Amino acid sequence: METIPKLFPRVPYFPPGWGREEVATVWRHLLHGFSDDPDGFAHFKEQLASVFPTKKMTFFNSGKAAIFSLLKQWNVGPGDEVIIPAFICESVYFPILMCGAVPVEADVDPEDLNISIPSVIKKISAKTKAILVAHLYGNPANIVPLLEVGKNRGIKILDDAAPSFGASLNGQPVGSFGNGGAISIGPGKSTSGVRGAICLSNDQIPGSTERESGIRLLQIYLKFLLTRQYRKAAYPLVRLHHWWAGLNKRKDGIEMDTRFTISQMAAIDAAIGSLQVNSVLAGGIKKRRANFDILDGILLKESKIKVVRAKRGESAYAKYVFILPEGNPLKLFSFLQTKGIEVFTTYSPKPRFGRNDPYFADSLAGRVFEFPLNETPDNTAFIGESIKEGLNRI
Ligand SMILES: Cc1ncc(COP(=O)(O)O)c(C=O)c1O
Repeated sequence: METIPKLFPRVPYFPPGWGREEVATVWRHLLHGFSDDPDGFAHFKEQLASVFPTKKMTFFNSGKAAIFSLLKQWNVGPGDEVIIPAFICESVYFPILMCGAVPVEADVDPEDLNISIPSVIKKISAKTKAILVAHLYGNPANIVPLLEVGKNRGIKILDDAAPSFGASLNGQPVGSFGNGGAISIGPGKSTSGVRGAICLSNDQIPGSTERESGIRLLQIYLKFLLTRQYRKAAYPLVRLHHWWAGLNKRKDGIEMDTRFTISQMAAIDAAIGSLQVNSVLAGGIKKRRANFDILDGILLKESKIKVVRAKRGESAYAKYVFILPEGNPLKLFSFLQTKGIEVFTTYSPKPRFGRNDPYFADSLAGRVFEFPLNETPDNTAFIGESIKEGLNRI
């Protein structure tokens, strides 16, 4: 019996937070051959201009492309260093490496797992050209003190709000601090979608002249529908695909390469993004917060875990996250898998760039568990009860 939920997960990791409109939009664009939709784009820009009134916007196919373009605009290149958190995803290393610069890791705060300011200060050198401050899981990082540091020392501050649209600090949305920022539309992010990113900056940065081909979009979107939206029904096929791909290197199975393409945001991504921005602002965060409270209610007394919480500002509640400081994480992972709950961790420590200092971030390897907050309340309670049961078994 135990293998059945494994084959058909009840809770796939990062189910898209989509309603009917998003799905209908995908099919409409598929049927129309992904032709450009300038009106839809104009609407998206207008919508965002009201959220980020002081920023210039450029639209890319991914957060990586937005980060890369900002770094290029700031002439970050060989010999330069970019400070990043030591607990983050590959997506942040790639654009820096593609510029020829070196990612220098700073430790993270043990409570919200966002970059630690004292550690950043220690890592600043004459070569530091930029500091990337990421707001993980919807929780605002402590970016404000770094703005002053950046100004005084001529270092650019990159406000990476890729997964955290809708979060804010003192009423100002994250992504809009510093010299430039990025907000992604993608699986597991606050604006759940397929791909795309909004690059925000003080000075207009050039967009890409590349446009995605219809064939590539068809591939990406059909694959997404299969692996995410209709995942439960399509699971045997997904498994076949995984077997065929051999190594499904990337979490969403969309891009399997370390290099990434840089192109304009496609009209379909803008259409999905626009619906998502609407739904996140019109109640999505509230709904996720209610699910956060359901999980908290079930797990608050669990002494084995440490729930990751916002330390400041307004969270966008992108995910429910906890650390398992002790005990066997693999046992918990596999127990949850047998329950039909897929578990994934987006971020991990990667001390690969000549760092010798022991960091708190290193203790997080394999010990951080993430859960979606866009499930139904019933499924959310099921997740909570399953975690509780799992914790009793390890
Ligand atoms: C903090 C952070 N920055 C940047 C990115 C890159 O975004 P994208 O996947 O749109 O390239 C991600 C993606 O997960 C992220 O979580």
